[in-house]
Amino acid sequence: LFSGPIDFLKSAPKLEHLPDPIVPEIAFAGRSNVGKSSLINAVTNRSKLARASNTPGRTQELNYFDVGRPLVFRMVDMPGYGFAEAPRDMVKRWRFLINDFLRGRQVLKRALVLVDARHGLKDVDRDIMGMLDDAAVSYHLVLTKADKIKPTELAKMFEAIRTEAAKHPAAHPLILPTSSETGEGIAELRTAILEAVLQ
Ligand code: GTP
Ligand code: MG
Repeated sequence: LFSGPIDFLKSAPKLEHLPDPIVPEIAFAGRSNVGKSSLINAVTNRSKLARASNTPGRTQELNYFDVGRPLVFRMVDMPGYGFAEAPRDMVKRWRFLINDFLRGRQVLKRALVLVDARHGLKDVDRDIMGMLDDAAVSYHLVLTKADKIKPTELAKMFEAIRTEAAKHPAAHPLILPTSSETGEGIAELRTAILEAVLQ
């Protein structure tokens, strides 16, 4: 599926712009600049499907990608959160949009919460994990940019995150270290996505 047709469908700035809920959906969430768009590109083996950039807060809408022709499932690139310069009303708008989306989207089968392997969990991550717990949407914690730290540091971070994830009811026990740069963990992530889609 990941090597077959994948098309950008649409960018939804508001919930009324969401596509009809006709196939399973998998959402990519995480702090701004954590590597959501890059990971979508890595998973789909395409260099420019999702727009990756150095400017935090680039992705402000829910960006939808159709996987398979005929359509099998959809991936959603969610707007990044937690960047320093975000105006307060933007943060509020983001929280409402995400909360409503998570609670109302029946076809949302799983979320991937991306966490920078160098920085670990921050309060903004705990905030979205809480929202996912409340909405009963199961999610994998995905460590990104694993190429940027030493394996020993990565192992430590993995353990710390595993311990914390165990306290969250909707957090899946499978935590995935990845790198969009080296391809580490990408095959495992594809498997996890397909497992969630087909369940
Ligand atoms: P927003 O859309 O602003 O929320 O950001 P994002 O989460 O989509 O991040 P994006 O994919 O645009 O990546 C941000 C920066 O991190 C870019 O400069 C990427 O090249 C870099 N990056 C992403 N993933 C990796 C990775 O696995 N390894 C390394 N070394 N750099 C990465
Ligand atoms: Mg992005």
